[in-house]
Amino acid sequence: MRMRKKPNLGPRMERCARFLVDMPGEHRGRWRELKPDAQAVWLELGCGKGRFTAEMAEQNPDVLYLAVERVPDAMIVAMERCAAKGLTNVFFVDGDAAQLRDYFAPDEVDRLFINFCDPWPSNRHAKRRLTHRDFLVLYRGILKDGGQIHFKTDNHDLFEYSLFQFPKAGYVLSEVTRNLHEHGVQGVMTDYEEKFHLLGTPINRCVGTKERLEREPEFHPIPGPDLHRAGENRPAGEMTEDTTPPEET
Ligand SMILES: C[S@@+](CC[C@H](N)C(=O)[O-])C[C@H]1O[C@@H](n2cnc3c(N)ncnc32)[C@H](O)[C@@H]1O
Repeated sequence: MRMRKKPNLGPRMERCARFLVDMPGEHRGRWRELKPDAQAVWLELGCGKGRFTAEMAEQNPDVLYLAVERVPDAMIVAMERCAAKGLTNVFFVDGDAAQLRDYFAPDEVDRLFINFCDPWPSNRHAKRRLTHRDFLVLYRGILKDGGQIHFKTDNHDLFEYSLFQFPKAGYVLSEVTRNLHEHGVQGVMTDYEEKFHLLGTPINRCVGTKERLEREPEFHPIPGPDLHRAGENRPAGEMTEDTTPPEET
């Protein structure tokens, strides 16, 4: 996400300090202490300006809702939205999805949300996609068996590609749709989703459920965040790896 530098970021962050988890590694294995009565722990990756984050946390007060975002200029808007709603069940990590195993212990997360992640259309950058097999295997290390990944994107090629990645990483696909809002708006929209929906772009969605496996798929550690950050944008382009469309369910 390219963003203009937000003015007064420091003072705004200070005003939202109660939402920010400064040292996420120190909460590894202990996240539930932030909300001991939580029925579940849900984690959103790349929350951006947080329309989805704030609405989901508000609609699910029994859930401990966590959001990881690597651009503070976007995350501050999300935090201010949560502050405006007076939410107490949501916390933010200024961090990178590639580091999730440093932040969370095995089985600590019940559900992950990946919404409108950067598509990285060039094959050269495929490993940076948050739905690349290596990322999906990384998430296995923090998700419970039976835990789910809820994935939405406007990008057709990224979606088709991702449908092949989920099974490779030991997830069972369900709720596959290539036009989520065909018969009216479904569920909570993100900022990007609203924009694309209003432009008439169909929204793709699926759920991947973590299967218990006899043998875990081999984990290939993800390159550090600095490599991922370099030259990030949202370019249009073609994908050529594994994009044959599977059947809808
Ligand atoms: C295209 S925006 C979508 C934002 C929001 N999910 C929405 O749908 O409106 C992608 C967001 O993911 C964040 N992001 C991308 N890669 C990330 C990573 N590896 N770890 C954490 N955040 C990431 C970007 O900074 C950006 O805010």
